[in-house]
Amino acid sequence: MSEIARLEALEILDSRGNPTLAVTATLSNGVQATAKVPSGASTGKREAVELRDGDKRRYDGKGVLRAKSHVETEILNWVRGLDANNQAALDKTMCELDGTPNKARLGANAILGVSLAVARASAADRGLPLYASLGDLSANLIPAPWFNVLNGGRHADNSVDFQEFMISPVGAPRYSDGLRAAAETFHALKSVLHKKGLNTAVGDEGGFAPQLKSNEEPIELILEAIHKAGYKPGKDVVLVLDPATSELFEDGEYVFAKSGKNRMSPAQMIEFWSGLLDQYPEIWALEDGVAEDDRTGWQRLTRMLGDRIQLVGDDNFVTNPSIFKQGIKDGIANAILIKLNQIGTVTETLECIQIARANGYGAVISHRSGETDDTSIADLAVAAGMGQIKTGSTSRGERIAKYNRFLEIEQELGSKARYAGSSVYERWQAVKA
Ligand code: PGA
Ligand code: ZN
Repeated sequence: MSEIARLEALEILDSRGNPTLAVTATLSNGVQATAKVPSGASTGKREAVELRDGDKRRYDGKGVLRAKSHVETEILNWVRGLDANNQAALDKTMCELDGTPNKARLGANAILGVSLAVARASAADRGLPLYASLGDLSANLIPAPWFNVLNGGRHADNSVDFQEFMISPVGAPRYSDGLRAAAETFHALKSVLHKKGLNTAVGDEGGFAPQLKSNEEPIELILEAIHKAGYKPGKDVVLVLDPATSELFEDGEYVFAKSGKNRMSPAQMIEFWSGLLDQYPEIWALEDGVAEDDRTGWQRLTRMLGDRIQLVGDDNFVTNPSIFKQGIKDGIANAILIKLNQIGTVTETLECIQIARANGYGAVISHRSGETDDTSIADLAVAAGMGQIKTGSTSRGERIAKYNRFLEIEQELGSKARYAGSSVYERWQAVKA
């Protein structure tokens, strides 16, 4: 048995220049591995707590030295000697040690750092790639990525209220072909924007962030780019939106402050989405189409559009097994976004994916807007056979790291590798039928 022997944490920077944690786990036989923790900007209210120092003299209060110290003292003292290959026992032990429902005492950043570092060390210990160690040896499904090619909302300093405009190359035969289609479309979009005299600087997730006249204009620009790159929208490449509407919800209304446009009631918001789907059948998934606090809105949205597209819950489910189960009972959404740091352990993350599967919900793994070069989510997607991932655009190193990791996995699996594009496409087409 390989036991956990040492834990060390380092306060590093994420892709936005804010502090986050890197945790290194060392096993009794000397095997070592490191994991790095991401950080969101448009967070759900019920996410596990990201512990920050609050000391305004350092990083404007965003330092993570307390979380670092929790890893190296309290957590280490409690988990030293545990079997590194028993992830579930480790994660349960840390949850119990924390003692709060939302990991507020030790910090979900501290706990996730340890959980992931040990998962990586266990894989190294067993001589397996992480995707095979977390899943089983037959794991071979590479997910269809959602590339966030145009950024707005809290991820960009522009006039677009909706946060993410994504493309997914579902029609590609292999993952590497899909990645190429996305990169070519991204470059085509750059030239479309350039020709129109629009800015081609990128936002937090590597998508362009131009000043535009409306929240729908990005869709037209992206469709033009897909054509220009030589692909067929709605067939080779489909569209996905994450408007992150929890950020727009004020006093029971949706307020479009950045574009300076009007407001909408929850009923109008849902009508808007319904109309947009009529206008753009290329859209095949909508994440957080209404706000986390708009429960009746979520139920209504699901009743109205749940048989047309994927309705993905992010801020409302926060990758929390019990919150997600309640949401399923309430008839909310038909898919879930999976973010490790929303819940804080590998085990609870896998549990959410299981719940999705058991209830016929889709599951899409996701990065955060604040990222590092850690690629664990790519392996986890393959391990759990998830079929879909969103991890930014085809620019910015912290996004590309994940996409490149899939290229390595595809090469390593050789003829066993399968790309999920056509199977997820058919699954959601069947919902419409
Ligand atoms: P976040 O955004 O990482 O800033 O929360 C991602 C999302 O809303 O899906
Ligand atoms: Zn989201």
